[in-house]
Amino acid sequence: MKQILSITAKISLSLVAVFLLANCTKKTPPLEYFNQMYDSPAREAQEEDYFAKNNSSSRIPPYGAIPVGYYPYPYIDVLNPDDLSGPSKGLANPLKNPNLDDYKVGEQKYQTYCTPCHGVQGAGNGKVVGPYPRFATAPPAVTSGKIKGWSDGQLYHIITMGRGVMGSYAYQIEPDDRWKLVAYIRKLQEYDSKKGK
Ligand code: HEC
Repeated sequence: MKQILSITAKISLSLVAVFLLANCTKKTPPLEYFNQMYDSPAREAQEEDYFAKNNSSSRIPPYGAIPVGYYPYPYIDVLNPDDLSGPSKGLANPLKNPNLDDYKVGEQKYQTYCTPCHGVQGAGNGKVVGPYPRFATAPPAVTSGKIKGWSDGQLYHIITMGRGVMGSYAYQIEPDDRWKLVAYIRKLQEYDSKKGK
């Protein structure tokens, strides 16, 4: 009985060894057993695909397709925000009635990205401006009469495209949040107008 057991043990051990060693040669890809779970019929990236015209599982995107997270901006060629004066030019503000949450997002974006240059209240006196001017062009106030007269679209445009020394904030601030930032700048301007009285 003992002998039979030891023979069975030896046989199973050698079988295990054969299975293990079968994968040892480096030149061939490893053997896969019962690979139905690994290799699904769905094509993987860059796999050969006989059904496709180009013989590859990677398809050419259809004309006009855009990557996920990319927002096309039709005013990319407009250098001067003055050329965008008024919603009639197409850049109308979709955020008609901003609520408190919208203003809070706008405030957070303004205080993060704009304060260093344009100042906490938008007067153009941010930390990087003083004690002596470190800019060839000092950041102007966003609460000036001129900017109060700008359309929402113009403000959105300068945040998206930047101008001169001021860079674009298109990568840092999502389109929806840019309109909330515009709403917040309007609040700063409102505050500035009341303060002057
Ligand atoms: C690195 C400093 C800097 C930062 C940060 C910055 N700006 Fe500016 N900004 C400037 C300068 C400098 C100008 C003037 C550019 C020019 O006309 O050449 C300007 C111009 C502007 C103008 C037009 C003002 C005018 O009178 O023509 C607006 C509006 C404005 N910025 C808004 C913003 C907003 C909103 C943010 C935050 C998303 C921001 N800026 C971040 C430096 C900055």
